[in-house]
Amino acid sequence: MSISFKTRSLDLAMMRRMDEHSTTQLPADAGKANHPQAASSKPGPSGPRGIGFLQLRALRQDYLGTVHGWHRRWGDVVQQRLLLYRDFSFLHPEHVRELLVASHEQLIRWPRATEIFASAHGQSVIVAEGAPWKRQRQMLQPGFAPKRVDALLPLMVAAGQQALQRWQGAGREAFGFEAAMTQLTMEVILRSLFSRSDEAQGRAAAEAVHVLSVVAMGEFYWPVSSPLWAPWKAPKRRALATLDGFIRRELARRREDDTPHEDLLDMMIRARDPEGRGFDEHGLRDECMTTFLAGHETTAAALTWWGWCMASHPQEQQAIAEELDQVLAGRAPTAADLPQLPRLSRSIKETLRLYPPGAALLTRIASTPLRVAGFEIPPGAMIRLTPALTQRDPRWFQEPEAFRPERFDPGSGHGEIPRGAYLPFGAGPRVCLGSHFATTEMMVIGALILQHHRLCPVPGLPAPTPRLDITLRPSQPLQLQLERRR
Ligand code: HEM
Repeated sequence: MSISFKTRSLDLAMMRRMDEHSTTQLPADAGKANHPQAASSKPGPSGPRGIGFLQLRALRQDYLGTVHGWHRRWGDVVQQRLLLYRDFSFLHPEHVRELLVASHEQLIRWPRATEIFASAHGQSVIVAEGAPWKRQRQMLQPGFAPKRVDALLPLMVAAGQQALQRWQGAGREAFGFEAAMTQLTMEVILRSLFSRSDEAQGRAAAEAVHVLSVVAMGEFYWPVSSPLWAPWKAPKRRALATLDGFIRRELARRREDDTPHEDLLDMMIRARDPEGRGFDEHGLRDECMTTFLAGHETTAAALTWWGWCMASHPQEQQAIAEELDQVLAGRAPTAADLPQLPRLSRSIKETLRLYPPGAALLTRIASTPLRVAGFEIPPGAMIRLTPALTQRDPRWFQEPEAFRPERFDPGSGHGEIPRGAYLPFGAGPRVCLGSHFATTEMMVIGALILQHHRLCPVPGLPAPTPRLDITLRPSQPLQLQLERRR
């Protein structure tokens, strides 16, 4: 079955067909496969078309469809002027790696995005640049290493089992699968971070996170934000107060608690830089907030899409359920079991290819002059990288819009996936800090779900279409049927 990747208003598959009838020859369709765009060309709109208000409006309305449209028209590299900025968008895996790996020190995140992020994240690792970022990253990295994450796996299993209990009544009626994944990943991150979970608090926090995502997506396309005290900023103000109060209460509780904990907060409290200094109170609050925010929204989105991929591919789902029965024989998974579940693992990788929660990486700015793909990139230029598009490029993925987990099986005959073509967690030194945590969590939850339930589409409901609000989510909350297997 093929999957059409609809963004808010534009069907990419339809666009491809339209482009096939236009006069522009596109690299993929032109049979020039695998070769990045010629360095001498000057792709992208010029003159008055490049001024940018229309492009900005289009980006705001349908980011992925708009950037896809540029690349269909102009090729692997698109350069244009968007308001005050020179704007470059790159699609080709070689260019993506050149930027994120080789030139990473010459890029910073777009200050407007970090300014918006900083209102919630403070100066945490996701916002910081240069030496402070390096220090924070080095302090946090050991806590997210596979061994440390494996120690958190029993907490993930406990949260999953509690959720299975809650879902016992689910049957042939529509079940709010997306809401259930959001609640479950919230519980996993609360237990992993603070060794506790509180359902009511979790729900309030999930609502606040949702409000912040939607508001942030709107703010990105305005050159300045109105102050937080402005009356129309009340939802953002309330959401920030909810999250901030919640994190600060957890930190206060830990200060008064002498019992040992083996959780992420404990790791952060004990983390030291090479000079032996730890995080101060603000630093701890900021890192907790980022782990909390980055650590559940993305995974909830990924599991939601995985649920849909399973429901819409019953044969693959059945094969995974059989693998689980064979390896686990009904018991909960342990860290040692996960490598024995390749079929489940491939289904998750393929879901992350089709529906990467970080569909567009945070836009970068060149901090010094750069030369990439033969193009001179001046300091201050904006750089866009869009995994959702690179990961659906027919040059690297046969039948790119189809759910084909076997493409991640080296023995399947699918061509090798070039480095830089598959990047759901980004690449280079700023690659996702929680990638092992996230894949472990998805494996554990996926295993528990398919051991107990069969996921089916709800008759009469249309297939979900993706919408980008910081993370890529279905435009309508996903509902599925949960049939009990045992
Ligand atoms: C399926 C789940 C996840 C996906 C798809 C994902 C994706 C990403 C991506 C693409 C980036 C890089 C963004 C960029 O370069 O612009 C990133 C960064 C980050 N992620 Fe994740 N993430 C996931 C889960 C998690 C989890 C569970 C945590 C923590 C528990 C986490 C923590 C972070 C942090 C702290 C950064 C910033 C790293 C830095 O700037 O040095 N992520 N993530």
